[in-house]
Amino acid sequence: MSESRREGVGAVVLAAGEGKRLGSELPKVLHAVAGRPLLVHCLAALEDLPLDERVVVTSGRRDEVAAVLAESALDAPFSFAVQDPPRGTGDAVGVGLQALGEEVVHVLVTQGDCPLLTPSTLRSLLESHLESGAAATMLTSEPPDPTGMGRIVRDGSGSVQKIVEERDATLEERRITETNAGAYVFEARPLRDMLGKIDAANAQGEYYLTDVIGLLRAEGLPVAAHLGDWRETAGVNTRADLAEVGRLLRARVAARWMEAGVTIVDPPSTFIDATVEIGAEATIHPFTFLEGSTRIGGGAEIGPQVKIVDSIVGEDAVVSFALVYGSEVGPGASVGPFASLRPGTKLLRGSKIGTFVESKNTVLGEDSKAGHLSYLGDADIGAGVNIGAGTITCNWDGRGKHKTVIEDEAYVSSDTMLVAPVRIGKRAATGAGSVVTEDVPDGALAVGVPARIIEGRGDKMGTKRGQELPEEDETI
Ligand code: UD1
Ligand code: CA
Repeated sequence: MSESRREGVGAVVLAAGEGKRLGSELPKVLHAVAGRPLLVHCLAALEDLPLDERVVVTSGRRDEVAAVLAESALDAPFSFAVQDPPRGTGDAVGVGLQALGEEVVHVLVTQGDCPLLTPSTLRSLLESHLESGAAATMLTSEPPDPTGMGRIVRDGSGSVQKIVEERDATLEERRITETNAGAYVFEARPLRDMLGKIDAANAQGEYYLTDVIGLLRAEGLPVAAHLGDWRETAGVNTRADLAEVGRLLRARVAARWMEAGVTIVDPPSTFIDATVEIGAEATIHPFTFLEGSTRIGGGAEIGPQVKIVDSIVGEDAVVSFALVYGSEVGPGASVGPFASLRPGTKLLRGSKIGTFVESKNTVLGEDSKAGHLSYLGDADIGAGVNIGAGTITCNWDGRGKHKTVIEDEAYVSSDTMLVAPVRIGKRAATGAGSVVTEDVPDGALAVGVPARIIEGRGDKMGTKRGQELPEEDETI
């Protein structure tokens, strides 16, 4: 694309439709697939195109849309134009055009409900339009099932005559397999002129953008069609479309990570949001859901049966059969099976959260281990600590939450109740079944119910950091 011709390219993204066919209170373009609202997928595809301006046409619910877009990591600037009430795609483009600067010569139009279109397809649509000098160039496709889409009507010589909406089409026109993908580039002036001529005399009583094509042709102006891949042109009108488009998007996300060196054992049973990042040589097993701002380090082993939301997993960590929300799993740490990490959990390098352990707002220090059946809430746990099976931090006293602090190399025996606020000192220990209601000094032992403190005895119990623990169930 030469620099001189690049000038004055504006984009109008149509996002004002009510989405009646979804039967939802939420505006259609805010429904999410692969972890991102439909409209965000569409705007992301425009990010790197040579556009001078971008306008999003919304309904009267502009603020809701703006709030969602503000949370998404979009870089390119855009503005809003409000179409209230939505009276059809032609009317919407008219509203968008008014918001574009006078110097805009070429107008790219896309639909906020078509999240599969790729930057490269849009770029080649734009390039072919600028090359051909047509008054309009539209993206078309030949999907296996064209139901619901506008059909491209060509004359005997093969040139485009008009677009006919399915509901207004004759039986013969419905047999046409070439469909309108809903992305176009127009010359601004003739577009403006023809939008002034369209009416709402059709099955839906709406001002159709598609009528502009027939009007341009009737004026003798050239219209070009650019055939695209049907896997990119599907739009979302129904809940079934949401599921189908989600499946296609996830397959694309999985393909991208496999190319980047990630092993995904079975992509169709793996659900990775478009917003997630994964390091090379990680392995993702089936029935894994990676969502939101999650980042997985290289060499990590995730799944099967794992859901990780808005969390960071370090290199070479292992997570299986677990829920991880708003947490950090350090390098080489291990989680699961059957563990639940709730927000604010931070597992440092080499630590372990094992079977049937729940944690919340808790730091587990380097090489510390909670192997079995524990609840760790509001706890600050040092390095090299052993948390015996059945240990509970009793952090809630019916009125408020309290903190438990466990210092380095402490040894907490099985079935210890730590009644917070409480502190277990460095190399201190607790006896099995103890109920600890007061602080245990460094090196001391707490035994019994409520626990008695025996100074100096704790130090002998623990396995010190760096020493190998016995294989399984070393608890006393
Ligand atoms: C539209 C095309 C159809 C094409 C299909 C491709 C028209 C008349 N038809 O049909 O030829 O095959 O897309 O996906 O254009 N919108 C507004 N304001 C409105 C109405 C709609 O902004 O008043 C927006 C919607 O939010 C949506 C887009 O325009 O993002 C398309 O509207 P929709 O009603 O879904 O059109 P389709 O029936 O899918
Ligand atoms: Ca649509």
